[in-house]
Amino acid sequence: MTDLDPTSLSAAEQYRLLSSIVVPRPIALVVTQGPAGWNAAPFSFFTMLGVAPPTLIFSAGPRDGGEKDTICNLRDLPECVVHIVPEALAARMNACAASLPREQSEVAEQGFALKPSVAVAPPRLAEFPVQLECRVAQFLDIGTRPHVAVVAEVLQVHAHDGLLGPDLCCDGDRLGAIGRISGQGHYARLTDTFQMKQPG
Ligand SMILES: Cc1cc2nc3c(=O)[nH]c(=O)nc-3n(C[C@H](O)[C@H](O)[C@H](O)COP(=O)(O)O)c2cc1C
Repeated sequence: MTDLDPTSLSAAEQYRLLSSIVVPRPIALVVTQGPAGWNAAPFSFFTMLGVAPPTLIFSAGPRDGGEKDTICNLRDLPECVVHIVPEALAARMNACAASLPREQSEVAEQGFALKPSVAVAPPRLAEFPVQLECRVAQFLDIGTRPHVAVVAEVLQVHAHDGLLGPDLCCDGDRLGAIGRISGQGHYARLTDTFQMKQPG
C-alpha cells in the first residue's frame, strides 16, 4: 500500500497523482467571448452536477499566477457554450489548449464553423455533436492558488440529428465522446462498455 498525505506533495505532484486516478474524465470545449474574439479552451475537470435546472461544473487552474482567459472572459460576460468532444475533433480541441494571448482567438485559429446560439452571446461550434448553451450560476474559489470552478446552468441543448432517442438518451456510440486519462496526453474511447442494472 502506498499512503500519501497530499499536503507533502507539490501542486504539480498532486495534479499528476489525482488526475491519473480520477479517470476517465469527459472533456468540455468551452467557448467564451474574449476582448477580441471567441475563445475556446478544453477542460477535463468537468462533469454534470445536477438537474432542475441542468447544471454543469468545470474548473480552471492558474496561469502565470492569474486566471486563465476562460475565467477572465466569464467574469466579463457569464455565458458560454460547452461542447462534448468526439475523437474526430480531438486534435483541434487539443490545439485550443495552446496558451494564446487573450486577444488571439482559438476559434478563428482553428477555423471552426460557427452557428448563432439561441440564449447566449457566444456562438456554437457547428461540427461538435452536442452543444450546450450555458449561463454561469456561481464561481467557486478552490484552494489557495487561483483555481476557479464554474457552476453553469444549461439553457439550451443542441444535438446533431440521429443522436437522441425518443427517450432523450444520447447514443453513446454515435456521440463518440473521448475522455482524458492523466494530463500526459493519454485519452480513452468509449468503445468497450457493459451494462449492469442498478438495484431498485
Ligand atoms: C484535454 C485537455 C483538458 C484540459 N483540462 C483542463 C482543466 O480541466 N483545467 C485547466 O485549468 N486546464 C485544462 N487544460 C488546459 C487548458 O485547456 C489550457 O490551459 C488553455 O490554454 C486554457 O485556455 P484559456 O486561457 O483560453 O482559458 C486542459 C487541456 C487539455 C488538452
